[in-house]
Amino acid sequence: MNNYQLVGKVAVISGGTSGIGLAVAEKMLCDGSEVFIVGRSEKRGQAALAALNKFASRVTYIQSDVSTLNGCKKVATVLKQNKSKVDILINSAGIYNEQRLELVTEAEYNAVMDTNLKGTFFLCQSIIPLLSEENATIINIASDAALEGNYGCPIYCASKGAVVALTRALALDLAPKVRVNCICPGDVLTPMVQAQVSKGGYTLQEMAEPYPLGRIGRPEEIAHVICSLSSPLNSYMTGAIINVDGGLTAK
Ligand SMILES: NC(=O)c1ccc[n+]([C@@H]2O[C@H](COP(=O)([O-])OP(=O)(O)OC[C@H]3O[C@@H](n4cnc5c(N)ncnc54)[C@H](OP(=O)(O)O)[C@@H]3O)[C@@H](O)[C@H]2O)c1
Repeated sequence: MNNYQLVGKVAVISGGTSGIGLAVAEKMLCDGSEVFIVGRSEKRGQAALAALNKFASRVTYIQSDVSTLNGCKKVATVLKQNKSKVDILINSAGIYNEQRLELVTEAEYNAVMDTNLKGTFFLCQSIIPLLSEENATIINIASDAALEGNYGCPIYCASKGAVVALTRALALDLAPKVRVNCICPGDVLTPMVQAQVSKGGYTLQEMAEPYPLGRIGRPEEIAHVICSLSSPLNSYMTGAIINVDGGLTAK
């Protein structure tokens, strides 16, 4: 128990089957929430359920692709069948793309934008009608790449920059009923980063070099900040864009 005061809260986590989203699911379950995790791959979904096995009665996997409006609506439909209200929406589903602008195909552009931006946008649209009247909150996951230029990944940077702008817009439109905040992690050791490192031909040590704290992050370190933000104790923060990046963007 971490005392985020989440007992009885209902949380929906897109991308809850892996990495940061899975770490959030585990912490929220530890604190007594009911959690719905969303992802495309049935295999990954079942593996996540197995990892969260000790909370089996409070965790549900929803197989859905949030890069389509229908996929987002499917999540809302399943939730309506199970629960009347949602307290917490975490938009963690995302994909990375490392490709110079001149080489990016239209299909790659669409895949990144549709998952990272459109998925966040339409999952919010689909879930907002189900949000509780009190203490409801949305947390979007952007990236340090939203805040400063990163080399060689222009679509990813653009998609995450848009998530920051969307967060601020929703924080205004949904106040005072719903708090909307955004986390910008630096590199975090998840399957996404493992794939990035093996494709990019660099090492984790090289990746860690620019970090003042001397290393990249762990999923549970990002999850802790997300759970703190979701807590009803955190009742005065909305529209905030929060770096959790070992000091990377402090320089
Ligand atoms: N790891 C980092 O260094 C880092 C840094 C900054 C920001 N972020 C952001 O943090 C978020 C989580 O990243 P992560 O590192 O935890 O990645 P990850 O381990 O690859 O997990 C990504 C999750 O998103 C799901 N997903 C991807 N596309 C989806 C879609 N169209 N519909 C539904 N689910 C989808 C994946 O499941 P399926 O593949 O089965 O769908 C998986 O559960 C992402 O938004 C990422 O951009 C990560």
